[in-house]
Amino acid sequence: MSENVLLDIRDLDVTYHSRSLLGFGGRSFSAVKGASLSIRPGETLGLVGESGSGKSSIANTVLGLVPASGGSIRFGDVELTSMKTRYPAEVRGQIQAVFQDPYSSLNPSMTVEDIVTEPLRVHTSMTRAQRRERAIELLRLVSLSQEHLTRHPHQFSGGQRQRIAIASALALEPKLIVLDEPVSALDVSTQNQIINLLYERRDELGIAYLLIAHDLALVHHISDRIAVMYLGHIVEEGPSDRIYKAPAHPYTAALLEAVPLLDPDAQRKRRAARKMAPVPETPRLSVAGCPYRNRCPHAMARCEAETPPAYPIAGGGTANCFLHAGDASSEPELDKTTEHVAS
Ligand SMILES: Nc1ncnc2c1ncn2[C@@H]1O[C@H](COP(=O)(O)OP(=O)(O)O)[C@@H](O)[C@H]1O
Ligand SMILES: [Mg+2]
Repeated sequence: MSENVLLDIRDLDVTYHSRSLLGFGGRSFSAVKGASLSIRPGETLGLVGESGSGKSSIANTVLGLVPASGGSIRFGDVELTSMKTRYPAEVRGQIQAVFQDPYSSLNPSMTVEDIVTEPLRVHTSMTRAQRRERAIELLRLVSLSQEHLTRHPHQFSGGQRQRIAIASALALEPKLIVLDEPVSALDVSTQNQIINLLYERRDELGIAYLLIAHDLALVHHISDRIAVMYLGHIVEEGPSDRIYKAPAHPYTAALLEAVPLLDPDAQRKRRAARKMAPVPETPRLSVAGCPYRNRCPHAMARCEAETPPAYPIAGGGTANCFLHAGDASSEPELDKTTEHVAS
């Protein structure tokens, strides 16, 4: 593995099994199929896609909360998917998480001081006084203050609770924070404040983020690169600006289309330019072919028969779409790592 890759996810499969009431038979459901992603130290990867596309399944697998059913996840030199039990303490401290719901993710009976210092209590031998000092520092990092230490989560707004969760995630100076829709439950102005806060702390502290969102527009400023998921597949990946300004996969274009523009004229023009077809609900497809073909306005016969590989896109990254089969160097990208390092 390249030295400057922090998290390297290769061909990850996540499958959920549900047992029947009688204890045999049951169903299995494939939530992530052959996903590959990598994050360098200090880098932010935005992982976007609509609800149910498999984003949280990837996040939870990285965090060791859900087992991988195939593929590998390397964190530095450690192969995470081979671990049968909990991650070793060094790894657990280096990968932290912030979840979507700031109301259920914080223990209501704990004070802010307890919440923010819990990782320090578990992973360090700091004294209570040292932990309190660090807690004050951490609260300052998220624009809260010392008076908040003795309060309980219910005394805070949603945005403030997310600040508390972020302070706790920062406590051990992790190398990676997995943020699973950290602002989806917040109102728009609070969303921007939290995104800005994450941006500032990242640059100061050199932390890498796996930042999950369903709204591409919200995370594109803070993300260095963006990966787009659809029905368990990564369908496009590349530099954030290129993805935002020139989406190559029709699904990415549709995701951007879903972002309302304030000017209705601009909205109409954009829709015409992208020739978007209405998007019917699609059942999950288990056979070969492009996962997006039933919703795609550009679908061709080939999209039924073959699963598109990752084609390189001018401006960086790849898209799994036959529309780009003739682009750039025209050979499908086999090893994405080489491309990331070069870009
Ligand atoms: N524990 C589980 N058991 C069975 N199916 C699940 C489980 N968790 C998620 N799924 C299914 O896997 C798919 C992907 O879910 P998820 O990873 O949560 O997507 P996202 O975070 O993009 O909304 C969904 O269809 C969801 O219903
Ligand atoms: Mg989710």
